[in-house]
Amino acid sequence: KLPPRYDEPLPAAFFPDSAPLPFSRADFGADFRWGASAAAYQTEGAWQHQGKGPSIWDDFTRRKGAIRRNEHGRVAADFYNRYETDLDLASNMGLTDFRFSAAWSRVLPEGTGAVNRRGLDFYDRLVDACLERDLRPMLTLYHWDLPSALQAKGGWTNRSIVGWFSEYAQLMARRLGDRVPHWAVINEPMVFVGAGHLLGIHAPGRRHLGAFLAAAHHATLAQAEGGRALRALLPDAAEIGTTFSCSYLTPHRPGNGYDEAATRRADAVLNRFFVEPTLGLGYPLAELPSLRWLLERYQKPGDEQRMAFDFDFWGIQNYTREVVKFSPWLPLQWAALVPAKQRNVPYTDMGWEVYPESVYQMLKQYSAYPNAPKMLITESGSAFPDVATEGRVHDAARRAYLQAAIGQVLRAKHEGVDVGGYFAWSLTDNFEWAEGYGPRFGLIHVDYETQERILKDSGRWYKSFLKGKVVAP
Ligand code: NOJ
Repeated sequence: KLPPRYDEPLPAAFFPDSAPLPFSRADFGADFRWGASAAAYQTEGAWQHQGKGPSIWDDFTRRKGAIRRNEHGRVAADFYNRYETDLDLASNMGLTDFRFSAAWSRVLPEGTGAVNRRGLDFYDRLVDACLERDLRPMLTLYHWDLPSALQAKGGWTNRSIVGWFSEYAQLMARRLGDRVPHWAVINEPMVFVGAGHLLGIHAPGRRHLGAFLAAAHHATLAQAEGGRALRALLPDAAEIGTTFSCSYLTPHRPGNGYDEAATRRADAVLNRFFVEPTLGLGYPLAELPSLRWLLERYQKPGDEQRMAFDFDFWGIQNYTREVVKFSPWLPLQWAALVPAKQRNVPYTDMGWEVYPESVYQMLKQYSAYPNAPKMLITESGSAFPDVATEGRVHDAARRAYLQAAIGQVLRAKHEGVDVGGYFAWSLTDNFEWAEGYGPRFGLIHVDYETQERILKDSGRWYKSFLKGKVVAP
C-alpha cells in the first residue's frame, strides 16, 4: 500500500473508533498546555554565526552518504533569523506553549569553559520573544547536537560528560531560569544513544556495543544530574522534566511464546531503559540479563542513586507502534521490528505505521508506575508529502492524524491519566536528521528555496480546535 496522499481517501487507521467523540478543547480543562515543538539543529541554521562552535551534527552531515541527498542543517528553516515571524505564526495559531532546544556549542563553543555571549543572547531574545507573545517557553537542553570539542574527548562515552553537561545546564538556568517555566533536560536518550553509537545512522556515527552501553549509562546519569542542577538553581520557579521516545509494542504472532518474549525484551530496551532508573528502579535488567555484566563495566558504586531524580514531568514522544518478532538480532536483544511496509497497513513518509492509539497505550503504560510524575506529550506528529498550491497545503492526512492523536490523549485523560499538555511535532517543516528535508512534519510548510512559510490545513485545523471547534463523528 502506498503512503496516503493528500488527495486520496484516508484509510480507517486515521479514525480509531476508540476515540471519545465528540470532543473539544474544553474537555481537556483550562490548564492544559497546547504547543508545538522544534529543535536547534533541525531549524536554526546559522551554523557558524556569531561565535557558534561546531557540533557533531555539523561534522556528521559532512560525511558523504551519511544523510539522504547529503543534506545538512547549515541553513535549515533559518529559524535563527526568522524566529520572530515564526513565533507570530505560532501565537496566531492560538498555541499556549512553544518547545525548542538550545545548541550547546552556540553558548559554549568548546563545550565547557568560555561562554559565547552572542549565542547566549540569542536564547535570551528567543525566550523574551515567546513571552511577548504569551507563549510559554519550554527549553530542551540537549537535542542531540553535542559540541565537537567534547566528542573529541569521547563525547557520551566519557563519564566526564556528566560534569560537562551539568556546567552547561547551570549556565542556562542562571541566564534564563527567571523566565523559562518548563525545562526538558534531554531529548529521547534512546534515539541519540542507539542511532548514534550502535546503529551508526546518527551523529557521531559509531557502531559499537561498548560505546553504546557507555553512552547509555552516562546519558542516564546526565539526565538525573541535569535535573538536580536545574532544581538547585531554580528551586520552585520551574517545572523540570525530561523526554522519552516510546512506541506501543505488540507481538507479530500474538500468543507465540517467542514473539511475546521478544516483545517484552524490546519493551525493556525501547520504552523502559531510560525511564525506570529515574524512579530509582535501576535498568530493566530482569528482561535483559545478558546486558547486566556488560553494563557493570561502566557503573560505579552509588550510581543507582545518582540515576534517580524526581522529575516534575515526563515528556512522552510518540509517533507509531511497532510489531515485534523473535529474531537472532543481538542489538535489540533477540527481537526485530517488522516494518509497516511488510504488514499491509498505512504508513507515513518515515515508513511508520499510522497508529494514533499508540499514544494512549503509552500514557497508560507509563502512568501505571507507582510515583510516575505528570505526563506531557512533548512530541506527536506525522510526516506526509505536502503539495503547496496557491498558498495552501491540503495535508488531510497530517490533519487527521493530529486530530486522532489528540483524541487518544483525551481517552487516556478520561481514564485518569495525569496528562497536562500536547505539543505537536513540529511547528515548521525542518531537517529530519538522516532523512534530510524529505519528510515533512510541520504544521507550517517551509519552502526551502525561499524560506516562505504557509500554514498548512493541519495548522489551520489546530487553530480552529484551539478556538473551540467541536470534533464530531
Ligand atoms: C523525535 C525527535 O525528537 C525529533 O527530533 C524528530 O524530528 C522526530 N522524532 C521525528 O522523527
